[in-house]
Parts: sequence; C-alpha cells; structure tokens
Amino acid sequence: MRYEKNMLTSEIYCELRKNVKWFERPKTDVEKIIDNSIYTITVFDEDLPVGMGRLIGDGVYFVIVDVVVKPDYQKKGIGRNIVNMITDYVRCECKAGSSYTVQLIAEQGKEGFYEKLGFKNIPNEFCGSGMLKVIHK
Ligand SMILES: CC(C)(COP(=O)(O)OP(=O)(O)OC[C@H]1O[C@@H](n2cnc3c(N)ncnc32)[C@H](O)[C@@H]1OP(=O)(O)O)[C@@H](O)C(=O)NCCC(=O)NCCS
Repeated sequence: MRYEKNMLTSEIYCELRKNVKWFERPKTDVEKIIDNSIYTITVFDEDLPVGMGRLIGDGVYFVIVDVVVKPDYQKKGIGRNIVNMITDYVRCECKAGSSYTVQLIAEQGKEGFYEKLGFKNIPNEFCGSGMLKVIHK
C-alpha cells in the first residue's frame, strides 16, 4: 500500500466518494475542494486508489474531512494510517508554545473509529455541542 501526500485529484476524489455511496458534488465544487485543501493523503494499491483523507483550515484551526477507504480495503488499518498522517502533519506545523485544534464531524456510527485515534466526543466537560448549518441553493 502506498500513501501519497498532496496527490489527490478530482477524479480520485469523486470515485472514492462514489465507492462509499456519498452524494456527487458539482465539478466546480470538486475543483475548489482539491485546490483549497491544505494537505491530502491518497492511498494506492499499486495504481488503484483505495483511500483518501483531507485537511482544511486556517493554519491554527484544522478540520479533517472526506476520510474514505474503499469497502474491500476497510478494516486493514488504512483509515487509521490516513488520520494519523494528517494529525502528524498538524503536529509538525504546531509551534512551541502554541496549541492547534483538529476538528471533525464523524458520520453516524463512526465515532468509535475516531475515539480510538484520540478524538474526544463533544459535548464534554470542556466544550458545548458542535453545530452545523448547511446552505442550499
Ligand atoms: C470509517 C473508515 C474510514 C474506517 O477506515 P478503516 O480503514 O476501515 O479503519 P481501520 O481499519 O483503520 O480501523 C482502525 C480502528 O478503528 C476501528 N473501527 C473502524 N471502523 C469503526 C467504526 N465504525 N466504529 C468503531 N470502530 C471502528 C477498527 O476496528 C480499528 O480498531 P483496532 O485499532 O482496535 O483494530 C471506513 O470504514 C470508511 O471509509 N467508511 C465509509 C466512509 C466514512 O464513513 N468515512 C468516515 C467519515 S466521518
């Protein structure tokens, strides 16, 4: 398995999302998504893309999005490696004396996957609920 940094393309992004039955995004949105990612991981089995994850943010607050492993390749540690590589990137970026935050929204039923990787459920004793507003046109 090969883990490539910043090699995610629109085609791979769309194909992997299709593999896990996520909705299709308009082409112009996909181009924006690829151009504005801070850091991406794409996983290949030889030449076949089998997983991805993306990091977005402002350099201090980060969000992990689009973590996908192709169904036949799930439960082999690939998702864990993707998320760990992304959080390692943030750890390297974080300056001494600073604290940077990595947030994400787990799909329903995927909370346990992220908990194993050190993410804390919210709300908790330190934070209120995460909140979300989706704008449709
Ligand atoms: C969620 C997903 C990325 C996990 O990837 P994966 O490669 O199958 O996960 P891994 O094999 O790396 O699992 C790492 C650990 O998390 C556990 N885990 C995986 N999925 C889990 C789940 N849904 N709930 C609880 N634990 C889970 C594994 O058992 C493993 O535990 P271990 O370290 O004790 O062995 C993958 O199932 C997927 O792509 N799902 C569809 C898309 C999706 O929902 N993505 C998440 C968006 S928030």
